[in-house]
Amino acid sequence: MKAAIYPGSFDPVTYGHLDIIRRASEIFDELTVSVLNNKTKTPLFSVEERVKMLKEATRDLPNVTIDSFSGLLIDYAARKDIHVAIRGLRAITDFEYELQIAQTNRKFSDGKLDTVFLTTSLEYAYLSSSTVKEIASFNGDISECVPDFVGRLLYEKYRDRIGAGNEQ
Ligand code: PNS
Repeated sequence: MKAAIYPGSFDPVTYGHLDIIRRASEIFDELTVSVLNNKTKTPLFSVEERVKMLKEATRDLPNVTIDSFSGLLIDYAARKDIHVAIRGLRAITDFEYELQIAQTNRKFSDGKLDTVFLTTSLEYAYLSSSTVKEIASFNGDISECVPDFVGRLLYEKYRDRIGAGNEQ
């Protein structure tokens, strides 16, 4: 059985991520999408919120499991006995960064963790969680970027933040 991990921040999950998840789930028997719990970053959504959103967005994909991890990807992959990481590539700029990470992971796992790159579908090549957050923060239309329920959660987050700011 061929299994893979798709690690990422997913803050929040976008249609670009979901495109990679669906395609990877068709290539591999089991796909674990895992949210990095990165203590050095300040994400908009908590790990629990991101896991919940991913679960909802992938509920129609029976071979996809949602999880979270801390620390190095190679250690997490070893614990799960999974030897392939999936990453999406939107542009050559992604590739430079991703190539370095993929080579580091391969080297430091003694060749046990390889990376398989999927090119993001062209319609989502412009998309990133950061730009979606920026647009949502100004109440812009993100209906083509994220599922409706994710969009609602994003607007709620920014509304709560503005509300909290007004109280001071
Ligand atoms: O969605 P992102 O933020 O581009 O995902 C980056 C991620 C989570 C794949 C990467 O930062 C990662 O694997 N971090 C865990 C720590 C690690 O193993 N780093 C790689 C060796 S430098």
